[in-house]
Amino acid sequence: MRLLASVSAAAARDGEPLVDLGRGNPDVPPPEHVIEALAASARTREARVHGYAPFAGLRALREAIAARYSRLYDVELDSASEVAIVPGTKTALAEIVLVLAERGDTVLLPDPYYPDYPSGIALAGARQGHLRLDPARGYAPRFDEAPRDGVAAVFLNYPSNPTAASVPPGAFDAAVEYGAATGAAIIHDFAYGDLVFDERTPESFLAADGARDVGVELFSMSKSYGMAGWRLGFVLGNADLVARVQELQDHVRAGIFEPLQRAGIAALEGPQDTVEERRLLYERRRDRVLARVGEHAAPCEGTFYVWLRLPDGVTAERLLTEHRVAVAPGEGFGPSGAGWARISLATPDDVLDTGVERLAGAFAAR
Ligand SMILES: Cc1ncc(COP(=O)(O)O)c(C=O)c1O
Repeated sequence: MRLLASVSAAAARDGEPLVDLGRGNPDVPPPEHVIEALAASARTREARVHGYAPFAGLRALREAIAARYSRLYDVELDSASEVAIVPGTKTALAEIVLVLAERGDTVLLPDPYYPDYPSGIALAGARQGHLRLDPARGYAPRFDEAPRDGVAAVFLNYPSNPTAASVPPGAFDAAVEYGAATGAAIIHDFAYGDLVFDERTPESFLAADGARDVGVELFSMSKSYGMAGWRLGFVLGNADLVARVQELQDHVRAGIFEPLQRAGIAALEGPQDTVEERRLLYERRRDRVLARVGEHAAPCEGTFYVWLRLPDGVTAERLLTEHRVAVAPGEGFGPSGAGWARISLATPDDVLDTGVERLAGAFAAR
């Protein structure tokens, strides 16, 4: 990602406006009633609202996410022991590794992976290993090739950033089996949970038999509700892990501003039509992109990304300097990302169209 930032800056000096398809920042704001809930709560003069919030968060917020899990994913959670509120799931990605891994333990990342995963591993002094995903089987994890000893945790991420794959059949069951057999914790990153296409149903890891015995799931308010800057998410599932994350937070944080939590409750309990609108918007943009460069794309089943195999001789750097379009270079997502690039659908239609035309031109010239 640093490579992207530095080449973007260099190219921006060069005249023709750059089209940036590299970033994954939702381009649609949160629903009005959520903004209202934040504002109404923040406007109160009641000192309690502006004081330290309970470290474990508002019970009503924990109950609201548990109710959503029951309603949408058919998962019944105990809101007192199986839910931790976190200031964004990026935070939790590091916290979970810190409470799980000892120096020298291995943490397996799916390859390719979301580039924030290595941070917690580095902070814990653990070792980063890779779990191969099989593109021929919908990017299913190859647990049969994974080490059986010394693995503290395994990350999974469906729908996946960057491949845009939804969960392949049997992948969660295989993860539970691996976790139960090896003692490794399974951490499922569900940041794009609601963003699945072509009438797929969102699938939570916690719906798999035995899932909460071996792991947790991370649910983010960022993508489903356009609240990325607000920093609100959840760690759900295994009660022991949830308690450990909560304990870490008790020591290094002091709760989350109550109005933000009230807004989270409004989002989770209020009308859900904007979640569907958002999903449809990305699906439509996905179709526009695939109509032009689909032959270069991995199957795009969800998220707001398209994962593109670059033709020989095309690199992210050349796309930037010769065609004025910024993409996220595949190398940043792990060893298997070489020769690939990720583009973002969280981009206004006209910008996306211009960028994709430039990509199509660059690909056709090869
Ligand atoms: C795969 C994945 N996981 C987690 C996150 C972090 O989300 P947040 O910290 O906003 O909850 C992101 C953000 O882009 C992501 O793409």
